[in-house]
Amino acid sequence: MKRIVVIGSVSMDLVVTTDKRPQAGETVIGQAFQTVPGGKGANQAVAAARLGGRVEMVGCVGSDEFGQRIRQNFEQNEVGTQQLRTIDGEVTGTAHIVLAEGDNSIVVVQSANKQVVFTEAELEQLIDDESLVLLQLEIPIATVEHVSAYCRARQIPVLLNPAPSQPLTDELLEHVTYVTPNEHECRDLFGDVSLDEVLRRYPNKLIVTEGVNGVRFFDGETIQHVPAIQADVVDTTGAGDTFNGALAAALMEGSELREAVRFAVVASGLSVEGFGAQGGMPNRNDVMRRLERV
Ligand code: RIB
Repeated sequence: MKRIVVIGSVSMDLVVTTDKRPQAGETVIGQAFQTVPGGKGANQAVAAARLGGRVEMVGCVGSDEFGQRIRQNFEQNEVGTQQLRTIDGEVTGTAHIVLAEGDNSIVVVQSANKQVVFTEAELEQLIDDESLVLLQLEIPIATVEHVSAYCRARQIPVLLNPAPSQPLTDELLEHVTYVTPNEHECRDLFGDVSLDEVLRRYPNKLIVTEGVNGVRFFDGETIQHVPAIQADVVDTTGAGDTFNGALAAALMEGSELREAVRFAVVASGLSVEGFGAQGGMPNRNDVMRRLERV
């Protein structure tokens, strides 16, 4: 089976659950504190593996307890860790999450994720012609640009999830095969242009996720809309990551884009019904059962 190579962030999520999100200068009493594996790269790797993908995680953790827990978590989820480096004396990346009022706020401290950098020779070892590469923006942007240019030159497909939002060059957008912003990231990337107009510029490439409003892309003839599923929301953290991991898994199986998007929408909808970025991520049977009802 073809491999999904996720090159991205690996973090521990430090999650506080509270009824009220504190304002600047305010202190509130919270209900619970939990540490759970996260990081956009890691979440996408776990999502793809649970859905049947053959996945390799390429990234960095620190030589601390969080790094060890994260490594074990990958092993439990059957994500390959041969290219997951432990950086001696460095700390593992963390995401500081407040869950309140039905939504999350997140501060990411990159730490070891800043060290995800490669030479050309290293990329040759990591990525073969049979891979699909999955990227996000919690590692250095220079690495994202380098990997995308490397893959473009070899016609290796790249799925870029441009999150968290930051400006991207036209060259980077040209180098990747698929780009999957949410509606806010899409506005940050393309400015105040209507969604339809932006979608038409990137047929079968720009796939915009809009939460409960589903997903849109332009297939070269018409704008396709794939509606979201009804879900009992517990925690939306990681829903976007589940979408991207699932999309990669479906594309690697040979699904057409619309079919792959539909699979990913269902996986992402199911993922919000559990706590934590990875807690609600479904397996393949969960998605297939739900697809039969859609
Ligand atoms: O996309 C969700 C992820 O973003 C969380 O797991 C957290 O690590 C942040 O990076």
